[in-house]
Amino acid sequence: MVKNIKSILITGGAGFIGSHLIRHFVRKYPNYNIYNLDSLTYAGNLENLKDIEEVSNYEFIKADITDETKIIELFRKYQFDKVIHLAAESHVDRSISDPLAFVKTNIIGTINLLNAFTSLWKGNFQDKLFYHVSTDEVYGSLGETGLFKETTAYSPNSPYSASKAGSDHFVRAYGETYGIPYIISNCSNNYGPFQFPEKLIPLMIHNIIQGKELPIYGDGKYTRDWLYVEDHVEAIDLIFHKAAKGETYNIGGLNEWKNIEVINFLCEILDDKLNREKGSSEKLIRFIKDRPGHDRRYAIDSTKIEKELGWKPKHSFQQGLEDTVSWYMQNKEWLENVTSGRYLDYYKKQYL
Ligand code: NAD
Ligand code: TYD
Repeated sequence: MVKNIKSILITGGAGFIGSHLIRHFVRKYPNYNIYNLDSLTYAGNLENLKDIEEVSNYEFIKADITDETKIIELFRKYQFDKVIHLAAESHVDRSISDPLAFVKTNIIGTINLLNAFTSLWKGNFQDKLFYHVSTDEVYGSLGETGLFKETTAYSPNSPYSASKAGSDHFVRAYGETYGIPYIISNCSNNYGPFQFPEKLIPLMIHNIIQGKELPIYGDGKYTRDWLYVEDHVEAIDLIFHKAAKGETYNIGGLNEWKNIEVINFLCEILDDKLNREKGSSEKLIRFIKDRPGHDRRYAIDSTKIEKELGWKPKHSFQQGLEDTVSWYMQNKEWLENVTSGRYLDYYKKQYL
């Protein structure tokens, strides 16, 4: 590690967004020491970071954020100046079958990090930061119109979003009560390479490649605001370096699509790339029982980050989806590794 430079902790760095963020920070900021703390759950995979594992300003730490003693010990040892907290249980369907796992990691884990940060710096917070990465799902569901703003009231509907809302509240409360310098951002649905194939887009890509059924919950007209993961990473970078402490930012793509439309796009792209007859992948679509508490529509108003920090998404949905599909096709081994073993048990319970 490089001496006498900022020590930055990124939690959940072996997951989907975390791995993109780690790669971006390690490469762009050689003058930061980047520590990736991750417990490597089913969603964490060090394969995602193979290309940077030997870089001198990067270190992986295997630890669980629910382990209070270990987290305090690590903060003492590494003296983290700044934290970007992404580690979480992140899948809504899993939160419906095991809510407590979400409370443990997303709420108690976050409090452990907040306590360790607060007790290490003991009120001497100059040049310190606790940046909490959250989701737009904390706002609940929109009707046909309207957008989530930073001022929209929290109204979470799933155990996942309730646990993320709880963690957001604790971060804010530690700011008010103990004076910690914090920032929170709430982002819409991400997609891109390295996303675990339990989430809509990689699950559908995987199933189309395999010729398996494409399970659509309910009427398929649920709407999400899709953002390419690297656009999210750019937003986090800007917020981390430029935002004032105590601020919150919504991040989104102004890119709303119904689930059925997204799946149709993927079918078209893959029919073409796999040289299949036009329309053949669409035949795999199956409408299945709806998800309980399913949020109808998410959409973000990102005026604040655009105006204050000059952020705008750079990737069009068409290009982002093409690139994502190509990545999964070129990384069959990665896909096979993460979809064997435990994934098959999960898949059977969820869909069969
Ligand atoms: P992910 O599930 O791909 O990765 C989560 C990572 O956290 C994994 O590497 C996992 O091993 C690690 N982790 C889980 N429990 C842990 C624990 N107890 N201790 C240490 N590490 C643990 O998630 P993601 O999609 O990359 O999301 C990252 C963050 O961004 C989450 O906080 C999520 O709520 C938020 N977010 C995600 C999206 C999205 O569309 N994926 C959108 C907005 C916000
Ligand atoms: P998901 O990727 O799980 O993200 P989130 O629920 O956090 O928005 O799901 C995105 C949308 O796709 C959501 O409306 C649920 C729907 N969906 C399906 O229709 N079928 C599936 O198999 C999955 C995983 C999701």
